[in-house]
Amino acid sequence: MGDGDDSEWREYNIHGENEQVDIFASTEVDYDTLYYTCRDGRLQQANEGASDDDSIVVRSETNWHKSTGMSVCRGSELLCSYLLKHPYVINNKRTLELGCGTGLVGIVIMKHLNPASMLLTDGDLEVLKNMRHNVQENGLKPDENHLACPQLIWGKKSAQKFKDKNGAQDVIMAADCLYIPQSITNLWELVDQVLTNTGVFLYVAGETQCDFDRVVKSGLEFGFVHCPGENWADDSEENKQYPVRLFRRKI
Ligand SMILES: C[S@@+](CC[C@H](N)C(=O)[O-])C[C@H]1O[C@@H](n2cnc3c(N)ncnc32)[C@H](O)[C@@H]1O
Repeated sequence: MGDGDDSEWREYNIHGENEQVDIFASTEVDYDTLYYTCRDGRLQQANEGASDDDSIVVRSETNWHKSTGMSVCRGSELLCSYLLKHPYVINNKRTLELGCGTGLVGIVIMKHLNPASMLLTDGDLEVLKNMRHNVQENGLKPDENHLACPQLIWGKKSAQKFKDKNGAQDVIMAADCLYIPQSITNLWELVDQVLTNTGVFLYVAGETQCDFDRVVKSGLEFGFVHCPGENWADDSEENKQYPVRLFRRKI
């Protein structure tokens, strides 16, 4: 799965190289097991122990053990529902998720949609371990069926290397990943380097995330435009505040 190649990167590194304080400090690791089903084009939480061929099981921490990616954020769940309702977005596409956390989105994609390939990535070492555990628990085997789970830290430096190894991608996704402004440029550098010319970037962000205008402005500097006509929200009030947003390269 690529463990041997991983660098010692932890999410709290983004708060500055000289940052000694661990803002995610917690001493005990306590896991929850979450069950989901994908029916009628929707992701839904299921009862404990739900198990049929369609169900998905995800290990998620009840407290943040030094990374926000150890638990499932709402953005991931909303992104899953969007993709299940719009399967053509993924069908036969080379697909990459950034900051994938527990891996929920990629697992849903692998079990219910039909990507040409799926790259589930995160920068944080502990998050990667948990995500790879979840992938296996759902009966998926990386390196088979065009699935891989490599480490990917955003920014120009890693982007070129990643593209040389994995090729350009048709769809790139990020859910609830931008909560400090210092990360915005790094994320766009990565998307700019790796997305094909006709590709789409899907972005979901709740209200605790970076100011969306700032994300749009930075995207424009890299030649990406927000396409509000292609955004998606379901009927819930929550999701209207929290749509799946779509970006394309400016032609
Ligand atoms: C709030 S979590 C969201 C996880 C998941 N997308 C979800 O919605 O459940 C943000 C994730 O982004 C990752 N991340 C943040 N900055 C990153 C960076 N510069 N490079 C790679 N991963 C990063 C973190 O490790 C974390 O797993």
